[in-house]
Amino acid sequence: MTRKTILSTFTLAMLVTPLAQAADDLPEITRQSIPLEYQRTRDGRVLYQGLCAACHGVAGHGNGPAAELLKPAPPSLTQLSANNGGKFPSIAVLHSISGKYHSAIPGSEMPGWEEVFNQTTGDLAAARHRVYNLTQYLKELQETHVAVK
Ligand code: HEC
Repeated sequence: MTRKTILSTFTLAMLVTPLAQAADDLPEITRQSIPLEYQRTRDGRVLYQGLCAACHGVAGHGNGPAAELLKPAPPSLTQLSANNGGKFPSIAVLHSISGKYHSAIPGSEMPGWEEVFNQTTGDLAAARHRVYNLTQYLKELQETHVAVK
């Protein structure tokens, strides 16, 4: 198991465990614990609300219920365009989500989702499609409304 795999497993364990529980008490479970509904859907909004909002918040403000347990804290995802001169940085976001160009922030619990989806469902094309749809959904959460090509 790579370090990242362990982190992803921990993260997913956290998502399906009552969030009030102390992080130390989390049971060891596998990726198969991603709820089936999120293994089946490719809908970006549904995936975001089910798998990301616990950390990044329902509207992407970085204030999900798990946020206070995390160091580094999950960032707000609503200013990605504003921080990029008003243009949504699609490629960078896609890679952040997939885990390909993952930030080197030590201790980050942000999973590499392409690997998580792929290992859970065994379908790489579908895993990439989910990452793409999540990227499209994050575009909708941007607080500056700019035309994105
Ligand atoms: C367990 C908490 C956690 C979960 C769940 C989580 N993230 Fe993150 N995310 C983080 C943290 C912490 C960071 C900042 C450190 C890093 O980039 O590794 C981050 C960073 C990011 C970034 C980079 C933001 C930037 O400013 O460049 C994106 C995009 C992102 N997450 C999207 C998602 C999406 C989409 C999901 C769901 C599929 C998700 N995250 C699920 C914790 C989480």
